Amino acid sequence: MENKRIVIAVDGFSSCGKSSFAKLIAKKLGYLFIDSGAMYRTVTYALIKENLISNGKVNMEQLPSFLASLKVGFKLNPELGKHEATLNDVVVENAIRTLEVSNHVSIVAAIPMVREKLVREQQRLGEDKGIVMDGRDIGTVVFPSAELKLFMTAEPKIRAERRRLELEQKGEQVTFEEVLANIEERDHIDQTRDASPLRKANDAIVLDNSHMTIEEQMVWVEKLIEERVK
Ligand code: DC
Repeated sequence: MENKRIVIAVDGFSSCGKSSFAKLIAKKLGYLFIDSGAMYRTVTYALIKENLISNGKVNMEQLPSFLASLKVGFKLNPELGKHEATLNDVVVENAIRTLEVSNHVSIVAAIPMVREKLVREQQRLGEDKGIVMDGRDIGTVVFPSAELKLFMTAEPKIRAERRRLELEQKGEQVTFEEVLANIEERDHIDQTRDASPLRKANDAIVLDNSHMTIEEQMVWVEKLIEERVK
């Protein structure tokens, strides 16, 4: 009997390695991998570029028409074999990963109008199943009936060091303290915002990967997937 194609939701705190884990699961299953955080980052990048964010505030008057004209999506990079974030069909994968975007993305992700637009698009991407999507509200809002829901967490200091290394490899010089402060602030905003706050779905399975390698995480998840695709 052929395996069922399922939806896998990977939620959790920032810099827990959700995307790396989700990407690997998708590769193993031959599924589509979508990093929903990249979509919030793309909107944030676009707002910064158009000077529609100042002093940590989004220009709410111009937001509706600006959002309506914005095309947020993904394009397959055949060389890397992965989907890269696009803004109006232009790849913005590197531009959305800067600390400047990270510092503003939580306030943008807290705006209901932004979430509505992106959730609609995310649900469309999952229409045919066979998808692994990572984010904050995938198991609770985007795909409440996903067959497998994972909720990832790790100690803040461990997450900050992982993120600092990642930024350093990209040539961004930031201190551990700066990164830790950004992570703690984002955790707080993500968990306390009114619109779809970060929370574990009742039927999600928790994975604390503070002291686990990616290989160990893959072994851990294998059985859970097997049970669901049968
Ligand atoms: O996963 P990330 O750190 O790249 O996400 C960037 C921001 O977007 C993060 O602060 C929370 C927000 N986000 C969200 O609110 N909902 C999602 N489904 C994904 C990300």
